[in-house]
Amino acid sequence: MGSTVGVGTAVHAGAAGEFLLGGDLPIRRMGYGAMQLAGPGVWGPPKDRDTAIAVVRRAVELGVNHIDTSDYYGPHVVNGIIREALHPYTDDLVIVTKVGARRTPEKDWPAALKPAELVQAVHDNLDHLGLERLDVVNLRIVEEGGGLGPTDSIEEPFTALAELREQGLIRHLGLSNITAAQLAEARAIAPVVCVQNEYNVVRRDDDALLEATAADGIAFMSFFPLGTYTLRHEKPAGADAKVPLATPLRNDALDTVAARHGATAYQVALAWLLHRSPNLVCIPGTSSLAHLEQNIAAAGLRLGEEDLRDLDALKG
Ligand SMILES: NC(=O)c1ccc[n+]([C@@H]2O[C@H](COP(=O)([O-])OP(=O)(O)OC[C@H]3O[C@@H](n4cnc5c(N)ncnc54)[C@H](OP(=O)(O)O)[C@@H]3O)[C@@H](O)[C@H]2O)c1
Repeated sequence: MGSTVGVGTAVHAGAAGEFLLGGDLPIRRMGYGAMQLAGPGVWGPPKDRDTAIAVVRRAVELGVNHIDTSDYYGPHVVNGIIREALHPYTDDLVIVTKVGARRTPEKDWPAALKPAELVQAVHDNLDHLGLERLDVVNLRIVEEGGGLGPTDSIEEPFTALAELREQGLIRHLGLSNITAAQLAEARAIAPVVCVQNEYNVVRRDDDALLEATAADGIAFMSFFPLGTYTLRHEKPAGADAKVPLATPLRNDALDTVAARHGATAYQVALAWLLHRSPNLVCIPGTSSLAHLEQNIAAAGLRLGEEDLRDLDALKG
C-alpha cells in the first residue's frame, strides 16, 4: 500500500521534487497551467475574476513556482490575471509562455508562425505580463490556418525566436506539439530547454520522445495531463468517438488505484505522470480553488507496483 492523500489535504508542490530547467531555473515538477482561467472556450473575461486571481495566488502559496500561460489565452486575459495576482514577481517564479497561434472573433486558434507574428507575440507577452525578459517561450506548432504540420520544417519560426533570444528578450526556448525530427532541427539552431506535448496516462504516443528528452536534460511538460480533451477516453455509450470530451479522463483503473489511496482519479492521473520520468513536469489546469488544492496534493501521492500495473493496462 502506498501513501494516502486526503483529497482536501494541502500538500506543498515541492513534494514532487524539482527539475533544473535550462541549467539555471529550478522548477517544482508540480506546476500550474493557467489556460482555464479565461473561462469557457478559453475566451475571457472569466465570470469571477477575483476567484481567478485567488487561484493563481493560492498556487504560489502552495509552492508552485512554474506557471504555464500564453497571451492568446483569453486572448490577453490570462496574462493580465497572472500579472494582477503576482506582479512584481518573486525571483524564483518561472513563467513559461507560448507563441505560434492567434485567436479569431469566432474563437478559433489559427497559426501565427510568421516571423513578424512571432515578434509581435513576444512583445505582447512582455507587455501583458509586465516583464522585460520572458523566462521561457515555447514555439507551438499549429497546423490550422495555413500553419505547419508534423513533417514540416520549423527552421523559419524557430530562427525568429532564436534571434529574439539573442536580443535578450527571451531567456530560454522550448517547443510544443512537435516531433523528434523537429526537436533535432531546432536544437541545431539554438538550445531547447523544454518540450510541451500532449501526454497522459491514456495518451502515451510520445513515450520515445519523453525518454529522449530525459536523456538530454530537456523537460517534458505534459499538456492535457488530466486528459481533458484527449480522444482516447472511455466514451459513454453512444458518444461520438471523434468528439473530444471536455471533462477530465476517468476510468475503472484510475478509480481502483484512487480507492486504494483515498485519493481521486485525477490525483492518480497526475501522480502517474510524476512517477513516469524525472523530467516530466505537470501543468494541470483549473479555475477552481478546490481542484487546485487537490491537484497539488497529488504531488504527495506515491504509487506502488500494483498501482503501476493497473495503470499500465490503460496504455493505448
Ligand atoms: N501547448 C499546447 O498546445 C497546450 C494545449 C493545451 C493546454 N496547454 C497547457 O496545459 C495546461 C493544462 O491543460 P488543460 O487545462 O487544457 O487540461 P487538463 O489539465 O488536462 O484539465 C483541465 C480540466 O480539468 C478540470 N479539472 C482540473 N483539476 C480537476 C480536479 N482536481 N477535479 C476535477 N476536474 C478538474 C478543469 O476544470 P475546472 O476549471 O473546473 O477545475 C478543466 O476542465 C493548460 O492550462 C495550458 O497551460 C498547452
